[in-house]
Amino acid sequence: MAHDIDMQKNPLVEVDHISVSYDGVRTVLDDISFAVYPGETLGLVGESGCGKSTLGRAILRLTPTFKGSIRFMGKDMTLASGKGLRELRRDVQMVFQDPYASLNPRLTVAEIIGDPLRNYGGMSKDKIRARINDLLVLVGLSPQVGSRYAHELSGGQRQRVGIARALALNPALIVCDEPISALDVSIQAQIVNLLDRLQNELNLTYVFIAHDLAVVRHLSDRIAVMYLGKIVELGSAMELCAKPLHPYSKALLDAVPIPEPAAEQHRLDSRRGLQGDISMSATPENGCIFAGRCPMKAVVKTEQGIDCMSVQPRFEEVEPQRFAACHLNNRLNPLTALN
Ligand SMILES: Nc1ncnc2c1ncn2[C@@H]1O[C@H](COP(=O)(O)OP(=O)(O)OP(=O)(O)O)[C@@H](O)[C@H]1O
Ligand SMILES: [Mg+2]
Repeated sequence: MAHDIDMQKNPLVEVDHISVSYDGVRTVLDDISFAVYPGETLGLVGESGCGKSTLGRAILRLTPTFKGSIRFMGKDMTLASGKGLRELRRDVQMVFQDPYASLNPRLTVAEIIGDPLRNYGGMSKDKIRARINDLLVLVGLSPQVGSRYAHELSGGQRQRVGIARALALNPALIVCDEPISALDVSIQAQIVNLLDRLQNELNLTYVFIAHDLAVVRHLSDRIAVMYLGKIVELGSAMELCAKPLHPYSKALLDAVPIPEPAAEQHRLDSRRGLQGDISMSATPENGCIFAGRCPMKAVVKTEQGIDCMSVQPRFEEVEPQRFAACHLNNRLNPLTALN
């Protein structure tokens, strides 16, 4: 799915130092910055609970931020309301993990797909009907499916309906929140291929959320790795997977099985797996959020007194267009791991 991404161009979305808290006490997203470029697929990976869906919803302004700003096509959306917000929610759509839960069981497929068209007005009934048929065909369903209900469809068909609904208003960006995780393995590739084809045909930009690096590595142009509400690494999918900069990205990669036996044995022999899970991690108060689980944890202090347990690493550009938050990769003053 490699696309020609021109990072000199204006980004479609610019997320600038945003933070989110649901209860005003616990920070769920902490100082997150990244850009999404037109035509690319940005993969967003990390363990359950690290804040991927929250970040997706924040882009649509479905979840409020308490710090930072979000620009869409150059326009500041942080405080948008009324018309501005309505336009944002026309141009940015979401596809969800569980197509069953996200489709209204009391509406026919045609009513579900037609809903945004009616909401945004300006189309005659005939035009809406024709557009619904076109959308069904576009996602690989027959127009007859329009009269059925979600429970009468297979999982793959339901996800196609969810995608058709997302496409109805010709969005520029679609946030795909684990769109294949709930599907049978045999159906997953079909939906990935469909999203790929639609991206090329309709010039779409995707943020593709998954908890598994194996899912996003082949379909993303760039990947952002999240850990506990922060992006810890961001870079081209190929470079990140070939040579991860952050120990957490490395651990996620080590968890991906390789289909070739000798390479798989090498992976099993050499991997330094993660211990515990996010909730069990001993997160130091001021240090690196990953220090509690980091297999590479640097125990030396630099002359400046930096160590992983007491100083939070900055998220910085380590190599051109490669960003990471890790003292081991600090450009000016890298720490050396002792273990
Ligand atoms: N509506 C909400 N109200 C309060 N807390 C929430 C809400 N939604 C999510 N959270 C909390 O915010 C954190 C991030 O959740 P989020 O759903 O964004 O994670 P995720 O990475 O999408 O996880 P998953 O892989 O399980 O979907 C979690 O600790 C979660 O419990
Ligand atoms: Mg989620």
